[in-house]
This record gives sequence, C-alpha cells and structure tokens, in this order.
Amino acid sequence: MRVDADGVEIDYEVDGEGEPIVFLHGFPLSGRLWDPAVQDLRGEFRCIVPDLRGHGRSETSARVDMARYADDVAALLDSLGETRPAVVVGHSMGGYVAFEFFRRHPQRVRAVVLVDTRAVPDSPEAARVRRETAASVLREGSALVAGEMERRLFGISASPELRARWREIMASTPPAGVAAALRAMADRPDSMSTLAALDRPVLIVVGAEDSITPLGEAQRMYRAHPSATLEVISGAGHMTPVERPTAFVAALRRFLSRL
Ligand code: MLT
Repeated sequence: MRVDADGVEIDYEVDGEGEPIVFLHGFPLSGRLWDPAVQDLRGEFRCIVPDLRGHGRSETSARVDMARYADDVAALLDSLGETRPAVVVGHSMGGYVAFEFFRRHPQRVRAVVLVDTRAVPDSPEAARVRRETAASVLREGSALVAGEMERRLFGISASPELRARWREIMASTPPAGVAAALRAMADRPDSMSTLAALDRPVLIVVGAEDSITPLGEAQRMYRAHPSATLEVISGAGHMTPVERPTAFVAALRRFLSRL
C-alpha cells in the first residue's frame, strides 16, 4: 500500500489488529527487516511497517533529513486514521528517525524501542566520510555500499543465505535514496538530551556482536535514561531482528507486556 507524503509515495504494510506498533528499519534496508516480528505480533497488535523514503519500494527524493523521514511516518499514521499513541521501534537509522519522531510528534508516541542504534551524532570525520560515500554511490551505484555494509552487518554465525538476501536488498536500494540517507545521517542532531528527557517507557536492544552500533553505545543510552531496560541478544550482530528473531521478539514481548 502507498501513501503520498509531501509529493513522494511511501510504501508500507499494515498487519493485525490491536494497539499500534510502528517499525522503522535502518540504512539501507527495508521494512522486510521486521517480517519475523510482525509474523509473531500481528495476532495482538496493529503492526505498521513503512519502507522509509528512498528505500525498499518507496519513492526517492533527492534531499531528505530526519525531520522528513519522521513526518512521512506521521503522514502514514494520518492516512491510516491511527490517532492512538504508538510503540515506535527503530533499528539503527530507524532509531535516529524515532528520536526525531518523538521530538516532532510526542503525542503520537507511547513507548520507544531502540534496536542496534545510538543517540550521539556523527563525529565531524564520520560525517565527512558519509558525504564522500554519498557522492561515490551516486557515481558507482548502491552495490558499493551493499558490499561494504554486508561485511559489517552480521554476527559470526549468520548464514550465507541471510547475508546474500540482505546484500541484494541493499544493492537494490536506489543510489539517490542511499546518498540522501547518508547525508541525512551526517547532518542528524545529537539525541542524547532527547533520550534523557524521553518520558516514556524505553527498551534498548543490541546484538552482542554488533560492530556498527556496539554494546558500548547501547550501555551509554541505557545510562542516559532514568528507567530504560537493556536487552543484550547473544549470537546477533547489527541485524538482531533477523539474526535472532525469536530472542528479539521475546525481548520485545517482555517489554510490551509491562506497558
Ligand atoms: C544503519 O544500520 O541504519 C546504519 O548503519 C546506521 C549508521 O550508519 O549510523
């Protein structure tokens, strides 16, 4: 299904009935990241899963920032007539969007789940590298990033099939979408103060073998929030929701059951 958000068609799936959960995938992935979780939760929750602008089957715009991604989510909820506050689950870049969504639409947020992500912004050097990579992707295509990311995304026990599937999804993300996301991440604000002031239940999940947003980042977020829960999933890298789907959903369910 598709919704028009500021002139760009955003593709999404909605599955199940019940309290709303919005699932936001990372870079340069797609809503398919959440398939195992949705499969499990759709009997009890309304699972709302967009492909972020420039990813998956959504259209691309040349420029995007965290505010635009967040407002696309708000436009999607409006189009669904979903006015109840939602549990917002953000993976990696989706976590950066979740912080922005809370800053811009706090009344729409019931709780926040931060999966394999961080609250601090890029260092000047990391931002510079991202902008250079954006220019390279526009010249050479998304396979450049897909190959590099695939080497870092997974824990040591991820199967070759899982790696190949996600490499293909990343390589098929349009170069303009990849480049726009890289620039948006380079420009994103610091969310540490947002996290500290986030007066909602917060769950932080991290794969024990995550090398992109490592355990230290999760522990830093955990310490910054007065009442967050931290779940460390063994045997997973940065792709916890698909590497250890059963353990991931169990952690999510423990949190949901306490809301
Ligand atoms: C992601 O998985 O969304 C990105 O790797 C996050 C990042 O590069 O900061």
